[in-house]
Amino acid sequence: MSLPPGFLDELRNRLSLSQVAGRKVMWDQRKSNRAKGDMWAPCPFHQEKTASFHVDDRKGVYYCFGCHAKGDAISFVRETENVGFMEAVEILAGEAGMTMPAPDPKAQEKADRRGQLAEVTEAAVAWFRMQLRTGAAAAARDYLDARGLAADTLDRFEIGFAPAGRQGAFRALSDKGIDPALITAAGIATKPDDGGAPYDAFRDRITFPIRDPRGRCIGFGGRAMDPNARAKYLNTRETELFDKGRALYNHGPAREAAGKGQPLIVSEGYMDVIALNQAGFQATVAPLGTAITETQLQLLWRIADEPIVALDGDRAGVQAAQRLVDLALPLLEAGKSLRFVVLPQGQDPDDLIRQKGAGAMQDLLDQAEPMVRLLWRRETEGKVFDSPERRASLDNALRDAVTRIKDLSLRRHYGQVLNDMRFQLFRAPRRADWQPGRKGGFGAPAGPQAVTRATPLAAGNMTDAEMRVALILATLCLMPALIDDFEHALERLAPTNPDHARLADFLLGTTHRDAETLRADLDCGNLGQTLENLLSLGHVRIAPCIRAPDDISKAARCLAEEFAKLTARRGLEDEMTEALEDLAETDGARLRWRLNTALRARQQAETLGADDTAATPEDESSLSQHLSDLIATRAWEKKSR
Ligand code: UTP
Ligand code: MN
Repeated sequence: MSLPPGFLDELRNRLSLSQVAGRKVMWDQRKSNRAKGDMWAPCPFHQEKTASFHVDDRKGVYYCFGCHAKGDAISFVRETENVGFMEAVEILAGEAGMTMPAPDPKAQEKADRRGQLAEVTEAAVAWFRMQLRTGAAAAARDYLDARGLAADTLDRFEIGFAPAGRQGAFRALSDKGIDPALITAAGIATKPDDGGAPYDAFRDRITFPIRDPRGRCIGFGGRAMDPNARAKYLNTRETELFDKGRALYNHGPAREAAGKGQPLIVSEGYMDVIALNQAGFQATVAPLGTAITETQLQLLWRIADEPIVALDGDRAGVQAAQRLVDLALPLLEAGKSLRFVVLPQGQDPDDLIRQKGAGAMQDLLDQAEPMVRLLWRRETEGKVFDSPERRASLDNALRDAVTRIKDLSLRRHYGQVLNDMRFQLFRAPRRADWQPGRKGGFGAPAGPQAVTRATPLAAGNMTDAEMRVALILATLCLMPALIDDFEHALERLAPTNPDHARLADFLLGTTHRDAETLRADLDCGNLGQTLENLLSLGHVRIAPCIRAPDDISKAARCLAEEFAKLTARRGLEDEMTEALEDLAETDGARLRWRLNTALRARQQAETLGADDTAATPEDESSLSQHLSDLIATRAWEKKSR
């Protein structure tokens, strides 16, 4: 189905974003101005107490100044309801009183055919389920019991039994009046090449219905109980309904659970999904007997930004993980990645949960490794880098991997992280040389400088705001006792440098209030180097509060001042950006008003604390001229760069 031209515009016009978003957020009544369509609330996309989430109802867009989430009504519904684009459009069209266009006749026909086939598979689900209660299924019931599947799990996953006969399912369904051609087309029975009678696809197997995210049964998995069976698991062959590379087991329920905040877990098979579910991890899916495909990866990323892949702790599992890294690298985008849990040797999630319980699984999930670590481990584990040649070959391998990432900004960050890991590997561990008061001489004296030079963080190319952010973060790391006082300001710091952003998040999330233990935790989180880089910046090194790390009140004053200046400058920059946008609009009066306000803000920022030197209406025209020049040359950007 495709939407007619103008449909989305009409939809967006009819909707009020503040109404759509209003169901998920609590507006900050003091900060919001409903008449102007200017609404503020704590952001629904990240945890916060302040109201950084802004809706511009006239433009129909939102932006969060904290987490930078942005979009329109459709993306808002996509993100908060965890649905796809078309589904979001459908939901909103319903609310706006617009009818979705009818699918074209060909597609309609195809949909009808698929509907027919789905009726057949549905009848098969019911029949297999019924068979599990018969005498012939006694061994199957014992088997399921021995594997620890509770009765409500059997119900939830609609587990059934296909008896041993050649034509049980085929006869039962055709006796119901179902066209035999449909029974074979749905993959329930197979028509032999020699033209003989169709025979059942699943015989003497436990059956697991596979449903698409909309709940239609598209096929089955069947597990043999007989250890000598030809194959332990069988899937429905490819049919008009079932394309195993595009399907995920437990897709629909997992998507729903992930939408409610559960981590999305990707396991290897049916029984892992079921065991994880029983243990409370409902957002779990599995591919269907094949390695994860690109399509499946994209499906996963529609559900969650960072699915956790839990693979068996055997060679095959580790290899599968590495293949997945190769598949994922060129597809990565900012925010979309994978994490990996490799289970203990010889175990899958089902085994682990049965032996050690759900807590053990949770512990592993908590330690899931980011993809970059897996990449690093693949290139370095079990190898010794004791010669320039070996180091160079590692460099080559890492560079090859990184250049496969298409997203340029992400590629740069991967490069940085791997570079940091590389430095740590090649360098003797340095200890205790982070404290600013101490002189160098611990470990390799040239170390910190070499590291600093390797990162692009020389103060020379930092903006004024970035320099202030750097000083603020460094100060808080050395004097974590001050974190509580500046928590709110820290929440809104929004560093542009991702390392600094991680450090800010860390400071917000840590409970340590003394510098030593905080430092140890920083190292665990790979942030020690970030702090060292900050401390080696010229303007940070000479800052009075850094040079006297024991003078807590001096540090508090310094922080207050830095935060205030940062806010003033940011306010100015936001105003300027908006003014630039307004330039494109024709509303001259609004522009002039904005320019005037912006200039005042600028004067205030520069004479912070001094008397307000607001412009009078008389010099408005010269003022406008001045500001037009300013905007034309984007002078403030150069000033801060
Ligand atoms: P495993 O052999 O790891 O099985 O295969 P498992 O999931 O742990 O199953 P149990 O615990 O022995 O019952 C993982 C997945 O690979 C596919 C299935 O999808 C299975 O869930 N598979 C495995 C097959 O398709 N055919 C097979 O013969 C074996
Ligand atoms: Mn298993």
